[in-house]
Amino acid sequence: MLFSSLASLLLLAAPALAQDSFVGTWSSGSGAVVTGSGFANPANMSFTYPKTTGISYSFTTDGFYEIARYRFTANATEPNCITGVMNWAHGTYAAQPNGSIVLTPFGDGFQQIQNPCAAVSNFIENYNDTELVSAWAVYQETTGQRLYLYSYDGSPLAPQNLVSATPNMLPTQRLRNVTGTVSTSSGGLTTENALVVSGGEQRWTASSASMLATVLAGAGMAASLL
Ligand SMILES: *[C@@H]1O[C@H](CO)[C@@H](O)[C@H](O)[C@H]1NC(C)=O
Ligand SMILES: *[C@@H]1O[C@H](CO)[C@@H](O)[C@H](O)[C@H]1NC(C)=O
Ligand SMILES: *[C@@H]1O[C@H](CO)[C@@H](O)[C@H](O)[C@H]1NC(C)=O
Ligand SMILES: *[C@@H]1O[C@H](CO)[C@@H](O)[C@H](O)[C@H]1NC(C)=O
Ligand SMILES: *[C@@H]1O[C@H](CO)[C@@H](O)[C@H](O)[C@H]1NC(C)=O
Repeated sequence: MLFSSLASLLLLAAPALAQDSFVGTWSSGSGAVVTGSGFANPANMSFTYPKTTGISYSFTTDGFYEIARYRFTANATEPNCITGVMNWAHGTYAAQPNGSIVLTPFGDGFQQIQNPCAAVSNFIENYNDTELVSAWAVYQETTGQRLYLYSYDGSPLAPQNLVSATPNMLPTQRLRNVTGTVSTSSGGLTTENALVVSGGEQRWTASSASMLATVLAGAGMAASLL
């Protein structure tokens, strides 16, 4: 009797694997960052800034993905120099026999990097990085289904809640013609060695600039670092 009630307690405590599929749209934290038309406008390489930082991944049943990321990175030697990165990419994914997922971009991804302390404090560049999700799992938790993704190096990404079982994505094809240099990196989001796209600085908009300034002025800076 005691044993069986203990066992059922343990069963309740352990999260249940919800499904064997990561299809859908997922978003971390407060859910402010979501893939689809509310985040990136590839046609004019612009972004709509979410209220808070976060990541969002979408996957279709037929092999397409989209990623939206908004994050800050701190500089240990210059604590006041916070780099803000808005990053968007989409393409095709392939689930691997070893449980990993390879994300191959279409080549039309882009990112905006803002660092008030850098010589070029704000620019937009092409971004085309093949990424490896080394492992993943979906758990049924009290708040709903949650997706856990692990980076190429095994480090966990922020857990993401299911926003929509039907993926919310921009059209799953190349959405702009790419000119100029393309930023790539082996594994993960590029915030360094970023090359300025010709004319990129002119894409600086008053709204995104003041948005960053507002967020940086906030007291909860450290808490919002991802
Ligand atoms: C880019 O296009 C979108 C959608 O048409 C528009 O809302 C936005 O104002 C444009 N942004 C810039 C910087 O041109
Ligand atoms: C941090 O700031 C210093 C001084 O501005 C700069 O030289 C260095 O490249 C920065 N590091 C990162 C990781 O951004
Ligand atoms: C799993 O497969 C991917 C793609 O082939 C590969 O890059 C990765 O290194 C493999 N991971 C392990 C742990 O073997
Ligand atoms: C983007 O990366 C993919 C995969 O490596 C590659 O096939 C494609 O040519 C790249 N596109 C651009 C514009 O660099
Ligand atoms: C890319 O350029 C070609 C040739 O000018 C054009 O036909 C096509 O519509 C463009 N694609 C996009 C997504 O703008």
